[in-house]
Amino acid sequence: MRMTKSKLKVGVIGCGIVAKNGHLPWYAKSPLADVYAIADPDSAHLKKANNLYHPTLQYTDPMELLENSEIDAVSICSPHWAHKEQVIRAAKNGKHVLCEKPLTINLEDMNEMIHVVEQNGVIFQTATQKRFDPGFQRIKELIDNETLGEIYHISLYWFHSIPNLESKWIRKGLKFFKSLGIDILKEMGAWRLTDSRSGGGDFLDHGPHYIDLLRWWFGDIKNVSAQVRKFHDVHQYEDHTAALFSFKKCNTTAIFERSHNFVGRFAGKEQGRIHGMKGTITFDVPFEPKLKPMRVEKYLWTNIITDHPSQILYKSSRNPWNLSYARQVRSFINQVLDRSNNDVGFPKEWIPTIYDGKAALEVVHAVYESSRKQIVKEL
Ligand SMILES: NC(=O)c1ccc[n+]([C@@H]2O[C@H](COP(=O)([O-])OP(=O)(O)OC[C@H]3O[C@@H](n4cnc5c(N)ncnc54)[C@H](O)[C@@H]3O)[C@@H](O)[C@H]2O)c1
Repeated sequence: MRMTKSKLKVGVIGCGIVAKNGHLPWYAKSPLADVYAIADPDSAHLKKANNLYHPTLQYTDPMELLENSEIDAVSICSPHWAHKEQVIRAAKNGKHVLCEKPLTINLEDMNEMIHVVEQNGVIFQTATQKRFDPGFQRIKELIDNETLGEIYHISLYWFHSIPNLESKWIRKGLKFFKSLGIDILKEMGAWRLTDSRSGGGDFLDHGPHYIDLLRWWFGDIKNVSAQVRKFHDVHQYEDHTAALFSFKKCNTTAIFERSHNFVGRFAGKEQGRIHGMKGTITFDVPFEPKLKPMRVEKYLWTNIITDHPSQILYKSSRNPWNLSYARQVRSFINQVLDRSNNDVGFPKEWIPTIYDGKAALEVVHAVYESSRKQIVKEL
């Protein structure tokens, strides 16, 4: 059910961090879309987004937005627990959907969502935007071209520094900012740490991104062995995960470490190494939302003496229109309008689907089960 219009009327549901960085600015910049409506139960967030994007309509009840027949497509940027009902209502009302990861919390809900999306024939894109980062796309092309020979191992490390919210100095700081009218916990989306409705912790929140990249690069995951831990009482669920994956179609292993407990830069560290028989790729993603440049380097046997990379394979251009969030939204608009995706330079068959979103959720649950039962969990 693709559209023949020349300009989409878009609604954005949830006007917090990801909507501000990853959705609203890119619809607003597109000549092919209008930020027609926004919704958020928090009136302060609604007001801020309204002042920046001046949509025609604003709602405190997202379901009202989803009942408006003028709206063609929606971005769902609410907390995880709200996605299911919003996706189902959007699909039943014929709206195309770009939904944030994790698509929902449990697999039963996921199956219901898929059923409704299929029944209503709407386009559904999963917002695992890392695929759209030109650096990660470059890595995909190098893997597909077998530039590194057989890849035997991948090591991924993505840590954030979230201080202990219960420590004395943090509590003092939070109180001080509150006295100035700034609720830091709300603005940083602390529900993901402290609200049991999240349904999972740091790995449910961040794991889907790299699981999605791993599946895109190497195909489906065969099994997982993981240790999932929680160090801070104030966190409802895990804040540190180490997972080891193997794949169905290649003899590669991948280690993925994810944590909130890093002591270092607030923006965290996000780095990886991909080891092939003929060479190694390293990548460094300094801080995506601030549009810092990603760097991908290649090492060959000729570099074993100097330890300098043989080649800088990619360094981002700092052109915001080409960054992952922008390319994700541009691809969604192109899909809905049935346009070619050539202007994005990203083949349509690579755009993450609802089935990719489900596969990522399955792997997250396999990680949890592996750790809970201390087993290698087969998928
Ligand atoms: N793709 C990414 O890189 C990325 C980055 C951050 C967050 N996310 C995902 O996006 C979602 C939102 O995260 P965030 O960081 O923007 O959180 P946030 O707390 O900053 O923003 C969420 C917004 O949703 C509003 N909200 C609360 N309940 C709602 C409901 N029932 N319906 C509509 N809106 C509601 C809140 O008031 C808030 O303004 C989460 O699922 C998260 O995992 C993805």
